[in-house]
Amino acid sequence: MPTIRILSDRVANQIAAGEVIERPAAVVKELVENSLDAGATRVEVEFRSGGRASIRVEDNGCGMSKDDALLSLERHATSKLVETADLDRLHSFGFRGEAVPSIASISRFELQTRRADAAHGTEVVVNGGKLVHVRECGVAAGTRIVVSHLFHPVPARRKFLKSDPTESAHIIQTVRLYALACPQTAFTLIEDGRVLFQSPVCATLTERVAEIFGRQFAADLLPVAVTEEGMTLAGLIGQPGTSRSTRHEMITFVNRRPVDSRTLNYALLESYATTLPKGRYPVAVLFLELDPAAVDVNVHPAKREVRFRSEGQVRGFVIRAVLQRLRERGGAVSAAPPPLLSAEPRDEIPGLPAVPAAAAVVPASSPPSAIAQPFKPFIKSPGLAPLPPPRAPVAPSTPAAASGAPAASAQRLLGWRFLGCKPSSASGPWKASGCSSRFRWSSTPSPARC
Ligand SMILES: Nc1ncnc2c1ncn2[C@@H]1O[C@H](COP(=O)(O)OP(=O)(O)OP(=O)(O)O)[C@@H](O)[C@H]1O
Ligand SMILES: [Mg+2]
Repeated sequence: MPTIRILSDRVANQIAAGEVIERPAAVVKELVENSLDAGATRVEVEFRSGGRASIRVEDNGCGMSKDDALLSLERHATSKLVETADLDRLHSFGFRGEAVPSIASISRFELQTRRADAAHGTEVVVNGGKLVHVRECGVAAGTRIVVSHLFHPVPARRKFLKSDPTESAHIIQTVRLYALACPQTAFTLIEDGRVLFQSPVCATLTERVAEIFGRQFAADLLPVAVTEEGMTLAGLIGQPGTSRSTRHEMITFVNRRPVDSRTLNYALLESYATTLPKGRYPVAVLFLELDPAAVDVNVHPAKREVRFRSEGQVRGFVIRAVLQRLRERGGAVSAAPPPLLSAEPRDEIPGLPAVPAAAAVVPASSPPSAIAQPFKPFIKSPGLAPLPPPRAPVAPSTPAAASGAPAASAQRLLGWRFLGCKPSSASGPWKASGCSSRFRWSSTPSPARC
């Protein structure tokens, strides 16, 4: 029997990283979440070779002191939670204190950070979990992290990476989700030196949806805003009859966190059951806001799934809210809501089942996927979906966000124009769209929007 020994922090981090960081897009997700938690109003993401060569995430958030910067590399070091009960009051994306040490243990990790009130910044470089150096540096207020040589210390993981275009597509999809989640943060995404998209701060979700999916797409959606028993459902849904062949554009957020929730997916499918034919999926960008105590976000290694305390209640609420909106719109929905299924999702859902054939039929030429639609001139949408309040920074120091971006960056954040890309066959909001370099976004500023 081999002797039991306690793993070194480095090995423990590398093993833990296996769960959290499955591919380059997971690095982007974790770093962007940290930027948003730090109150950033500007986030810039740049990556090379599908994120394999390098990933840079830069923000104008609250930044960190030297001590905090070093502490952030320790496992279970977080500024977002003190005790377990805090999970019931959680308003941040992160809470486990494991993303930064995990990433730093499996890459070359360069962190530069400065709080707005500090005279100089701190640079920390870690290679495969080993500290290379810590020194003072000049850097704009906020945080800049560059991750390169990803998975070098864990070659087995490298072998599981897909082609660069596939990994790029996952990164793009990840940034799109967070850009939707936080319209009030300006986003820039750069791939191999080419700006894929830029969006300034947007006042409304509709504006951000228009930035990402195109003006026409946004204009065709119906705003939803329903509050009931402590839950609010806000966002945009497709008109009755608008459908897609994948559930790519069924995008749901719970307390701003992009989630792949079977409960919400079911609720949406059920709401549209009578208006969409078999095998078609509705379009939605929906934000469910509820008491953090009513949802468990600590059920998935990458926090992609959540569990509701009362699945049935959430599901019933979403169905009622969506059906009500569809009825107001005069959609061909049945007079009575479809009977609610059991609180637990049906077994056949995971593969995203064919929706039961419906009475109403989608027009023969149903619109192509939004991501396939070319850029169209701006058309004002019928209404602006209200937004949940922006997140407050949760990092310990005062956010530098308000001070704004450096002039050069600010100039580049004037706006982006969607130029279209090929549709993909992948499904689910977390699945990459397969667009990658096929995405075409203009880096030229578009007319004032927000
Ligand atoms: N961009 C940033 N700006 C300011 N502080 C940051 C930034 N990134 C990380 N931090 C600090 O470093 C800490 C550790 O980050 P890390 O992502 O490892 O953990 P977390 O976000 O607290 O939890 P999780 O592991 O669930 O993401 C954070 O709690 C935060 O205080
Ligand atoms: Mg984090």
